[in-house]
Order: sequence, then structure tokens, then C-alpha cells
Amino acid sequence: MFLLPISVSYAKTTIIVSHTHVETHPEHVGMVAFKNFIESRAGDRFEVKIHPDSQLGSNEDVISKVKSGDVQMLLISSSALEYYNSIYGFFSIPYLFYSEALYEQFISDPEVIRYLGSNHKKDKFIPLVAFTAGTRNFYSKTPIKEVADLKDKKMRVQVGAINTRMVTAFGAEAIPMTFGEVLPALKNGIIDGAENNELALIDQEHGKVCRYYTYDKHQMSPDLVVGSEKFISSLSKKDLKLIDEGLKTAQQVEFNLWHKRVDEAKAQAKDMGVEFLDVNSHEFLEPILPLHEQLLENSPIFKPLYEKAVNNTPIFK
Ligand code: GCU
Repeated sequence: MFLLPISVSYAKTTIIVSHTHVETHPEHVGMVAFKNFIESRAGDRFEVKIHPDSQLGSNEDVISKVKSGDVQMLLISSSALEYYNSIYGFFSIPYLFYSEALYEQFISDPEVIRYLGSNHKKDKFIPLVAFTAGTRNFYSKTPIKEVADLKDKKMRVQVGAINTRMVTAFGAEAIPMTFGEVLPALKNGIIDGAENNELALIDQEHGKVCRYYTYDKHQMSPDLVVGSEKFISSLSKKDLKLIDEGLKTAQQVEFNLWHKRVDEAKAQAKDMGVEFLDVNSHEFLEPILPLHEQLLENSPIFKPLYEKAVNNTPIFK
């Protein structure tokens, strides 16, 4: 007797990825590398669908879909996650790192990501990998050359209590809102300025309204690729390894592209009429330093991360 071959076809698992950036942004390019990595190795079982440019809504909207398992991955600033779990506010502490190289090394350390995700079952999302988002600086419609120039200025901050405390400590008025709301708020005069990396001047057109970008270098806070806990916990060990390798590839691509895109954005912004101001960041650091102690006291959960960032001590002993 001959057995007829049975062809079994399994439905593919779709990994929906959402983010708020344009398609030239290093994070998008990184996720395209992730898609190619996964589909070239397991395209019979997985397909990756990337939705850039807030197509699925603001990060604040999409995070609930990540929690329910309807979106599998979201690229979101660690600051924005502070609302869901205070541990993510860590990177909003201003002036944490001496250099971008140290910061990049820190966020590439799997120990850091594991510590951030300590409560992933309760959070219903899990950090998988970090992307650099460069250094955040103030920009405004009028020049900020010293701390006093921030006095009473209405500055947009990312949602998150520590951002508000930081901007208030600088003497400005903190106006929290989502990323997509910033351009209209600048145009309507609801805010005088904002703070972000150089890419926002071009990608989000903030440079059309704000002609002065001040290198005070107050924050280095990463974007995280967070996975839906429901999705990630459903994967086999083998698939988890595949996803992890794919995201490491994405991270490398993103890191490699970052500084090139910053230089390009800066040149484009200059052509647009934006002036870049170098200031004494020590002067900006002064009103802020007492915040470090206060924040560590309020949130002892930051301590192992802080010790690692400052003294390079291991988190898990
Ligand atoms: C950066 C970051 C985004 C974040 C944005 C913001 O561009 O990459 O993830 O949403 O800042 O200020 O909201």
C-alpha cells in the first residue's frame, strides 16, 4: 500500500511592528533589516509588517494593542513608558552619561534590558532591544544661550513625570504632549519650543518653526523595541533565539546609521535657516544635579542602573 504524501500548510504568524518615524529614520531602516533577517530564515512561518509614521496611531494608543497582543512589536521611547512602569523613567534623568559612546555601550548591554523588563508579566510588554535616539537638546523660536533664556518658556516635553521635573528645574514651563502633536502646537503658539535630537528638525519639520537649536545635551534616552508579552511568551525557544538575533542585527544597522543621519539632518536644517548654538553644558548641569539625588531617593529601583551607568558595576550580582 502506498501512502499519499499529505501536504500540511500552516498559517504564517504575522509580526506587526508599529512606530512613529519616517522611512528614512535609522529605526525604520533597522526594522527593515529585522524583517529581512526573519523572512529570509523563516519566511514560511513568519511575516513582518512594519507600520511607520504613526499609521497605527500614536505610541500612547498602540501600547494598549501591544498589551492585548494585537500588535506584536512597538518602537517607543523609554520616557513614554514611565507612565506604565516607573522603572522606564530612568533614562529621563538628565546628564546621566558623559558621552554618547558610553550611553550606546550601556543600552546595548543585555543586563540593562533584562533589568528594565523585570516586571514584564505584569506590564504585559517586554523590552527586547534598545535603539539610540541620540542626545536631546532644546530648540525654540528664540535663541536659548543660557539657562536664564529658558525662564517661563513653554517647552514641550515627552509624557513622563521626570521630564516635567527636569524642564521645571530649568525654569521653563513643561507642556507634555505626544510626538505628533508638537508641530501643530508650535505653529499655533501653544508652545515656544521643544527638546529632541536633530532628526526631529527635519523628519517632523520642527526646524521650519524653531530656528535655534541649543546643544545643552540634557538627555540621552533610548527608544525600545517592546514586544507583546502575549506574543513573546507564545514563542518556542528556537523562535525566541531567531527574533533575538534579528533584533541584534537591527540594532547594529540602527547604531551604524544614526550619526550619519544626524549629520545629514543638521546640514539640511542649516540650509533651512536653523542656527546651532554651542553652550556651556556645565552651566545647564548646575540647576539639575540636585535632581539626581531626589530621583534616586524617590525611586530606589533606579539604583542598580544608576550605579552601572556611573561606576560600571554589574546589575545582577
Ligand atoms: C524621539 C524618539 C521618539 C519619541 C520622540 C518624542 O524622536 O525617537 O521615540 O517619541 O523623541 O519626543 O516624543
